[in-house]
Amino acid sequence: MSSASATRFRPGPLRGALRVAPDKSISHRALLIGALTRGRVHLSNLNTGADLEATREAVRRLGARIDGEGADVTLDAPARLHQPGTVDCLNSGTTMRLLMGILAGAALPARLTGDDSLSRRPMERVAGPLREAGALITTTDGRAPVELAAHTGLHAVEHHLRVPSAQVKTALLLAALTAGTSAGITGDERSRDHTERMLRYLGASITWDGARIALTPSTLNARDIEVPGDPSAAAFAIVATLVTPHSEVRIERLCLNPTRDGLLRALRAMGADLAILDARDVCGEPVGDVIARSSTLHAIDLEPSLLPTMIDEVPALAVAAAFAHGTTRIRNAAELRVKESDRVETIAAMLEAAGVAVARHPDGLDVTGVERLNERIEVASHGDHRIAMAAAALAAGSPAGVHVDDADCARVSYPQFHEAWEALQQGAAR
Ligand code: S3P
Repeated sequence: MSSASATRFRPGPLRGALRVAPDKSISHRALLIGALTRGRVHLSNLNTGADLEATREAVRRLGARIDGEGADVTLDAPARLHQPGTVDCLNSGTTMRLLMGILAGAALPARLTGDDSLSRRPMERVAGPLREAGALITTTDGRAPVELAAHTGLHAVEHHLRVPSAQVKTALLLAALTAGTSAGITGDERSRDHTERMLRYLGASITWDGARIALTPSTLNARDIEVPGDPSAAAFAIVATLVTPHSEVRIERLCLNPTRDGLLRALRAMGADLAILDARDVCGEPVGDVIARSSTLHAIDLEPSLLPTMIDEVPALAVAAAFAHGTTRIRNAAELRVKESDRVETIAAMLEAAGVAVARHPDGLDVTGVERLNERIEVASHGDHRIAMAAAALAAGSPAGVHVDDADCARVSYPQFHEAWEALQQGAAR
C-alpha cells in the first residue's frame, strides 16, 4: 500500500483536553425532528461531517429553512412538509432510514439514493415495518435506491423489533409522529434512545415501561437543542490513551447517555483508569467530562447485553483488546457485518496486519493481545471512517506507527479528526 493518499499515524503518547466531534446521531435527529416542530429552533454544536451534509440537504428539501452553514444554525420548520424529489443520502444510513420514516408518515413520494457503500446496506428492516403500517415503499433487492409513493395514510404503528436497531425504532416513531398516529414498539434491547429523549424534551407524549415504547399523537414545541460530544468519536482517543504509556486525556462535554456508554463499561472491566467529572443534563441528555489515563488492560468476555450500547465502538474495543493480556471475546455483534464496511472483516484485517491473532465469527470476533505489534503496519480503511480512526489508536501504542490507505474518510463523522489527533500527540489540544 504505497498509494500517495496513504496517511501515517505516529506512535507515542496523547495528552491534553479535547472536545470531540458533536454527536452524529443526535445531530441527525436535531435537524430532522427540528423540521417537524412548530416554530423556530436554534441548534448548536451540530456535527458538520459529510453524513450531516446529507441530512441538512434532505431537511431543506422537506421545506425547512436553515440559516447558517456551520455547527450553529436556526431552523424554521415548514407549515407542511414538501415533496423532496430525489435525495442523495451519500454515505449516511441514518439519513436514509430516518427519512424513510418521516416520508412514510407524511405520505410523500420520494426517491432515496446513496453511495456504493450505502447501496449495499439493508433497507428492508425499515421498509418492511413501515409497509406493515400502510406505507408504499419499494427497495432495490432490499437496498437503495428506495422509492416511496403517496398513500392514504398510516394506521397506528405496532411493531416488535426484529433487528436491534435504533434506526428502525426511530423511523417508526417518526413515521407515527408525522402521520399523527400512535406507536407501540417492543423488543428494543437498549439501542440508543436519543429519539425518545428528544421527543420528550420537545413535549411529545412518549413513555417506556421497560418493555414497550409508547408514543401517542403529539405536536412538538420548538426548543433550543445543544448537541454534546460523540462517544463514538471519543472512543479512539480514549483507547489510544489507555494503551499508550505516559498518556492522559480529558474529553469535555461528552454524551454519557447510558445507551451509549457500553465501551466505557467494557474498558473498566478490562482495568481501564477512567474517571467521570461534572456529570450534568443538557437538553435531556446526560453529559460529562471523561478523564482517561494509561492503563494495563486484561482481556474480557464482553457481556453480550452491552453490544447495543457500543455497536459503533467495537473497532475501538478491538484495538484495546490487541494490547490486553489474554483473549477478548466479542459476540452478539452480527450487525457489525452491515455497517459502512463488514467490520468483522475489516477489524480482523487491521489487527492481523499488526501481528495480532484474530478469530472471526458470524456474530463477532476473538482478539488475543500481543506484547509488541509489528514494526511495519499497513491498513486499508475500506472507506470506513471508524476503521481509519481505529488505526490511529492502534498506531499510538505501536512501535513505529501505522500507514492507512484513505484515512481521510474519518471526516464523514469527525471533520477535525486529523487536526485533533495531531494536537493531542503534541500534548496541546484545546
Ligand atoms: C445510529 C444507530 C446505529 C449506529 C449508527 C447510528 C443512529 O445503527 O450504528 O451509526 O443514529 O440511530 P443501528 O440502529 O442500525 O444499529
